[in-house]
Amino acid sequence: MSRPMDDPGASGVEDGSAAAGGPAAVDHPLALRVSHVSKTFPGTRALDDVSVSVENGTIHCLLGGNGSGKSTLIKILAGVYRADPGGRIRVHFHEIDADKTSPEWARGAGLHFVHQDLAIFNTMSVAENLALGRGFPVGPTGNIRWRALRRHARTVLERFDVHVSPSRLVADLRPADRTMVAIARALQDQADASEGLLVLDEPTVSLPAVEVDILFGALRRYAAAGQTIVFVTHRLEEVTRIADRVTVLRDGRLVTTLDSAEVTKERLVELIVGRALDHAAANASVMEGEDLALEVSDLWGGPLRGISFGLRRGEVLGIAGLVGSGRTSLLTTLFGLQPPTTGSIKLDGAPVSFHDVDDAMDAGLGFVPEDRSESAFLDMSLRENLSAAQVAKYWHGMRLRGREEADDARRSIADFSIKANSERQPFATLSGGNQQKAVVARWLRRKPKLLLLDEPTQGVDVAARAEIYRLVRDAVAAGTSVIVVTADLEELARVSDRVLVLANGRITHEVRGPDIDPSRITELVLSATGDPTDPANPDMEVSQR
Ligand SMILES: Nc1ncnc2c1ncn2[C@@H]1O[C@H](COP(=O)(O)OP(=O)(O)OP(=O)(O)O)[C@@H](O)[C@H]1O
Ligand SMILES: [Mg+2]
Repeated sequence: MSRPMDDPGASGVEDGSAAAGGPAAVDHPLALRVSHVSKTFPGTRALDDVSVSVENGTIHCLLGGNGSGKSTLIKILAGVYRADPGGRIRVHFHEIDADKTSPEWARGAGLHFVHQDLAIFNTMSVAENLALGRGFPVGPTGNIRWRALRRHARTVLERFDVHVSPSRLVADLRPADRTMVAIARALQDQADASEGLLVLDEPTVSLPAVEVDILFGALRRYAAAGQTIVFVTHRLEEVTRIADRVTVLRDGRLVTTLDSAEVTKERLVELIVGRALDHAAANASVMEGEDLALEVSDLWGGPLRGISFGLRRGEVLGIAGLVGSGRTSLLTTLFGLQPPTTGSIKLDGAPVSFHDVDDAMDAGLGFVPEDRSESAFLDMSLRENLSAAQVAKYWHGMRLRGREEADDARRSIADFSIKANSERQPFATLSGGNQQKAVVARWLRRKPKLLLLDEPTQGVDVAARAEIYRLVRDAVAAGTSVIVVTADLEELARVSDRVLVLANGRITHEVRGPDIDPSRITELVLSATGDPTDPANPDMEVSQR
C-alpha cells in the first residue's frame, strides 16, 4: 500500500501536520491528492500546475472567481475531461495519471458528484432520476419493478427532507427541488458509508436559506461519519459555516490552502479577487415624486392573491419572501409568461396585457429568469447569446450586420468582465458564472423600461456581483425601473430603494429608508404568514415546510 506522502512535488500545499508524516498522517490519511494538474483548452489554460490535498473526513471548500478552473478540476476528477499529461491524482489509495481519469475509475475510487449543471433529466420522473444513480430494480424476468423503485425513492426523499412526489416529472419541479434531487441521487447510497468522497459544484446556488440549512445538516453528518466533502460556492458566508479547510484558485492557479478558522470573509475576497474590493455603497437616493413606470392593481393568478403596488421611474424595488410566496410568479406574470386571472397592469399609465413574451419585449420589458437554462442558448456562441434579445437591431434589409453585432458583443464582454477567448466561443464552454453574466448583459444592453431580475447573481463571484449591480445602477440612472428577487437578503438590502415582503401571494409589508436592513427584512419575511389554509393558494403544500 502506498504511503500518503510519497510525492514530494505536492508538499508545497500540505499543511504542517500532514506534511510531517508520522502517526498523524497515518491516522488522517488524505482522501484526495491532486498533484501538478494542468488543463489546456484551445485558447485557454483552465488549470496551471494545480496541487491540492484534502484530508479524510473534512469539508473542504474550493473557491475562486468565475472561470478560475473549479469546475474543470472537478470534471477531471470525474473523468469528464482529461488533464494535460504530467499530473497525478490519488483518491484514498487509488492513484492514476491525471490524463487517464475516466468515469469508471472515478466510480471505482468512491467518488460521487453533483455537477454544476446537475445532470438531472427533466423528462424523467424523480424516481427514475434517482434510479439512474444506482440502477433500476429488476424482477426475475428483467422487468423494472416500478413499485420498488418508487418505494426506494420515497425513502431517499424523506431522508433528505425533499418534499416532492417520486412520480413528479423533474421538469415540473422548482430549481431548488431539482438541486435537492440531484444531491439525494449522489448521496443515496452514502448515508451510512464511512469513507468516500463527495464533490458538490455550487449545490446551493438556487437553494433558499431553509434548504441550505437542511443540506448543511446532512453534510455535517456525513463528514462526522468519515466521508470527505469537496464543496464549491460563491456565497462566502457559507464557507465560515461549513468548511474545515479552503482552497482558493485564481485564473487556473492555486493561490493557497488554509484552515477556515484562519480566514475572515474580507480575507477570502482578497484571495479570490487578488485585491480588496471597493465597498462603495450601491444604494441610490430614494426616488421622490410619483412618476410611475408601472402600476399593478389587484393582480390575481397562480399563487398571487390581490397584488397592488406602484414602481417609480428609476426605482429599484426588491421583493423578499420565502419560497412559494409568489416572488417568481409575480415576475413571470408581469412578463406575460402566465396571464393573470384578474387585475390590471399599467405601463407608463397605459393598460397593457401581454399575450406572450414578444409582446412584453416590444413594450420594453426585460427578464432574467431564475433558471438560466430557460434563457440561454447553449448550442450557440457567446455573441449570439448576447444579442438574443435584440436580434432585430442587427438586420439591415435582409442582411445580418455581423460587424456591428460583434462590436457590441466585445463591448459587453469588456463591460461585464465576461471571461471568454472571443465572442465566438460556444456558450456551453463558458463557466457557469460567466454564462449568468452574459444573460444579464443581454438584457441591460436593450436599455429596457422595466427590468425583472430573478436571482440575477446566482453563481456569480463577489467581484462580478458588484459589477453587475453597478451596471444595473447605470441603467437606472438612464430611466430603467427594476424589480429584483433574491434570496440573499443582504444583497437585496444593498441594492433596493424599497422592498416589498411577500407571503402566500400577498404583499404583507413595504420596507423603506433605514428599515431596509437585512436583519429587519429577515424578521419580516419570517414573521409574515399569509393564510396557509386558504384554498386560493395552490402551491401551499409544496411551499410550506
Ligand atoms: N469545454 C471547454 N472548452 C473551452 N474552454 C473551456 C471549456 N470548459 C471550460 N473552459 C474554460 O475554462 C475556464 C475555467 O472554467 P471553469 O468552468 O472551470 O470555471 P469555474 O471556476 O468553475 O467558474 P464558475 O464559478 O463561473 O463556475 C473558463 O475560461 C472556461 O471558459
Ligand atoms: Mg463552475
